[in-house]
Amino acid sequence: MAARIAPPDFDLDAYVARSGALDLSEIPWDDVPRHPVPAGALRTLRYMQDIESHTIVYLRELLATRAIDDPEVATFLACWLYEETFHGIAIRRFLEAAGQPVGPRARPRGQEPLAKRVEAAAVAALSKLWPDFCALHMTWGAINELSTLTAYRRLADVAAHPVLEDLLARIMRDESRHFFFYYRQAEIRLANPAAARVTRLLVERFWAPVGSGEQPRDEVRFLVDYLFTGADGRAAARKVDDTIRRLPGFRTVRLLEGWIDRCS
Ligand SMILES: [Fe+2]
Ligand SMILES: [Fe+2]
Repeated sequence: MAARIAPPDFDLDAYVARSGALDLSEIPWDDVPRHPVPAGALRTLRYMQDIESHTIVYLRELLATRAIDDPEVATFLACWLYEETFHGIAIRRFLEAAGQPVGPRARPRGQEPLAKRVEAAAVAALSKLWPDFCALHMTWGAINELSTLTAYRRLADVAAHPVLEDLLARIMRDESRHFFFYYRQAEIRLANPAAARVTRLLVERFWAPVGSGEQPRDEVRFLVDYLFTGADGRAAARKVDDTIRRLPGFRTVRLLEGWIDRCS
């Protein structure tokens, strides 16, 4: 049985007890069309709706790794998937109320693309060969949750739509709890310098904004430009990197800002 390494200040039982579907009953859906939604915000929401709904596909890749051997990570992932799924449902409902319904998600015909299958096989093989694989998984999760949380905060500011702001505030509460779990786990696992070295190498080589593997390149670039350029956007991106730099072994890393500089 995997060793129990609960972070001292993350109460998993309390998290599980609070975990649940986003409560949408108090959202004033009828007010959505009374306020304009900028075209850029609609495009961003379609992207986010797609990646939130894609969480279960991402989980399929994780199930083939040692991530689920740790009972606490497994418990967290079950709650996390449930909550992320409802984020997708909530954004879908907002888009419908705004008169921009989301069509059905394209179902892959036959096998997944070769690149995706190669990636999944590489991740599974890495997990089998490398006992500290969870350090990478937790660090990756922390970066993605923090950048998602920050993207939602920026979207709320940029779109200036009162109902969207309310909805995103509820989603952000979940995202910050997700971030906290991943980040505390990452801190503990990266305290092992060898694990930190390999994790950093892989993150710097392969990390890209959430959704990069599923969305067309132009959509990723649009979202990053829309939310993370200008003085406020840059400051938000820098804050993401500053937080990740506090992880053991990550002191000089540049992730979101590095991606922006390379791709914009
Ligand atoms: Fe989410
Ligand atoms: Fe999340």
